[in-house]
Amino acid sequence: MALYSDKVMDHFQNPRNVGKMDDADGVGEVGNAKCGDIMKMYIKVKDGIITDVKFNTFGCGSAIATSSMATELIKGKKVEDALELSNKAVVEALDGLPAHKIHCSVLAEEAVAAAVKDYYDRNGIAYDPELFSKKLHDCESCAE
Ligand code: FES
Repeated sequence: MALYSDKVMDHFQNPRNVGKMDDADGVGEVGNAKCGDIMKMYIKVKDGIITDVKFNTFGCGSAIATSSMATELIKGKKVEDALELSNKAVVEALDGLPAHKIHCSVLAEEAVAAAVKDYYDRNGIAYDPELFSKKLHDCESCAE
């Protein structure tokens, strides 16, 4: 069996929503505790809906594929629903990842959360810090 699914290969070779966004409403930048790679996620929000997403990563092929899929999964969603996105859901949508690459998908989940937090902060939107404390922290074991 191939190490990577067709979907992973597709999103790696033709990543969706790559790039920078100059007029983003929220920007999140996170690093992966396990490998040191970096991911930046930009969101554009209108009436509480994520209308556009872009990402940039200094990560591996799995980071590219998972971020690409993550952007597809949150585009058009309500901001608060994007917070529900888990790395597990991203991996499932890609038909799986090898176990030693699961930590790469965490980068995508965290970057989405960081971008949403930035959007809330910029707009003075109140939120429960607990929402982010679980997702946004440097914990080796959570990056497994
Ligand atoms: Fe660093 Fe995949 S090895 S994100």
